[in-house]
Amino acid sequence: MIAPMTTHTDPLDIVRHYHQRTKHRPERYAASLGYLDWASQPDPFRRFEGAPGVDLPRPPLRPAPSYDSLFTSTPQAAALDADTVGRLLLHSLALSAWKQVGPGQSWSLRINPSSGALHPTEGYLISGTVPGLIDAPGVFHYAPFSHQLERRAALSDAQWAALAAGMPQPCLLMGLTSIHWREAWKYGERAWRYCQHDAGHAIGAIAVAARTLGWQARVLDSVADAELDRLLGTDQQTGPEAEHADCLILLSPAGSLTPAPGAEAWPARIPALDLLGTANTLSREHHPWPIIDAVADAVCKPGSVLAAQSLPRTDTSPDRGHSAEQIIRQRRSAVDMDGRSPIDRNSFYRLLGRTLPGAFVADALPWAPRVSLALMVHRVTDLAPGFYLLVREPAHEASLRKSLSDQFVWETPEGCPPDLPLFRLIDDDARRAAQTVSCQQAIASDGAFAVGMLAQFDAALDTGGARAYPRLFWETGLIGQVLYLEAEAAGLRGTGIGCFFDDMMHALMGLTDTAWQSLYHFTVGGPVEDARLQTLPPYAHLDSQ
Ligand SMILES: Cc1cc2nc3c(=O)[nH]c(=O)nc-3n(C[C@H](O)[C@H](O)[C@H](O)COP(=O)(O)O)c2cc1C
Repeated sequence: MIAPMTTHTDPLDIVRHYHQRTKHRPERYAASLGYLDWASQPDPFRRFEGAPGVDLPRPPLRPAPSYDSLFTSTPQAAALDADTVGRLLLHSLALSAWKQVGPGQSWSLRINPSSGALHPTEGYLISGTVPGLIDAPGVFHYAPFSHQLERRAALSDAQWAALAAGMPQPCLLMGLTSIHWREAWKYGERAWRYCQHDAGHAIGAIAVAARTLGWQARVLDSVADAELDRLLGTDQQTGPEAEHADCLILLSPAGSLTPAPGAEAWPARIPALDLLGTANTLSREHHPWPIIDAVADAVCKPGSVLAAQSLPRTDTSPDRGHSAEQIIRQRRSAVDMDGRSPIDRNSFYRLLGRTLPGAFVADALPWAPRVSLALMVHRVTDLAPGFYLLVREPAHEASLRKSLSDQFVWETPEGCPPDLPLFRLIDDDARRAAQTVSCQQAIASDGAFAVGMLAQFDAALDTGGARAYPRLFWETGLIGQVLYLEAEAAGLRGTGIGCFFDDMMHALMGLTDTAWQSLYHFTVGGPVEDARLQTLPPYAHLDSQ
């Protein structure tokens, strides 16, 4: 029987209630329909019918910059033109391939991954004029199927100038929203968490795409959700298919200082929009998930905004020569792991180092990290199998030492670079534990290593209020995006794991309260391809027109 939804009214209580209620347990998974209602399967593509479209270029793949060079140097900033905007979206939120099992049975994949490939995240571009592409400032929805911008509203030059006042020039703004229904259709109550992971992956994807152009991405966290909804026109949407504002991202040439307008500055900057186009209907029918509405409402209340600036991290690892755009375009999830392929120790250390603040991707989030990584090492060459811990923020260490099992030894592993805060906790064959805790998914035991992302839960909520809750998931999604790309660059493959038994993982780590909570899991290893599936290019449907 499902417990009554919630009697709580305080946003923090609602968040804590939602979190406990949506934990998977071996004897009781979080509530969902329990079957797939194919008749109401949501359309994966939002369109705004009647909104004028702007075709984006799909420039050919560039061999440079190399993927590794993104972490060791800053590419020269590209000019703001049609090619730059086309590449930015092509390498962050666009289609990456179609998968086909038989005639008529195909589905699309995207550059940014999504739990169940349901893609709840929608992207918006807010921009001034762009030579050869955008002739007047506006708010645009990005349509991945047609790789087009749909103009949702025109802005006057003065409105754009007011919005971007004090920001580096040139600059672009990107907004992300989530359609919770897309995930809830399949996953029920836990779906809201997956939407936040997906938003984090999208932020990471945008940060990497920007870096290939010599630009940087930074979330502007002072804008309240209600203001962002106004800016994106999503305040006009109602009902189960409405989009919910997640975040606003400032894109500017790398190295530019990013201003942090105070929350009070936004209402006057955001103009009233005269909206163009009508949102398409995604499903014929909807099943209500009131707890998702409750948590979505609780986390959009204004609260404290945290900010931190990290120092750039030195990365001197040798360049493997892969094109960055190639790695971005080839990223996929492994559906099965081979149970054999190792990762070598140096690649493992390099990969972990690139999840840290100062290694540009993490810097897209303007707050000090709240997430450290528990690692279940199965097949890392010259490293003993067992549990390890990457402390992503020095301030986490004391709290983790206090909270984690007192059996843990906290040793520095062999060959670990001095600037990598990695600890061996305990030698163990963690394969069975990794699989069991991951809802029995063998991808977690048959990879080279698996990850549990531990968030400083109580402290984040105590300082940031309910709005800190989605941000913890964004941080985990962003880390997942780095792991996906690093896995590809190491000749391996990653998979995000949203299905795991929360408290079983906590027990494994010796956690007995909510000071730290595992919010997302991940696995990296040698993939086994599904030979029944055919892979088709992403935009053949446009080329054949
Ligand atoms: C937040 C999140 C959770 C996921 N959870 C799982 C999981 O538990 N098991 C799994 O096999 N794949 C999982 N995946 C992988 C998705 O199914 C995959 O990203 C999606 O099918 C799109 O395929 P692609 O990543 O190859 O583009 C997850 C992905 C994300 C982003």
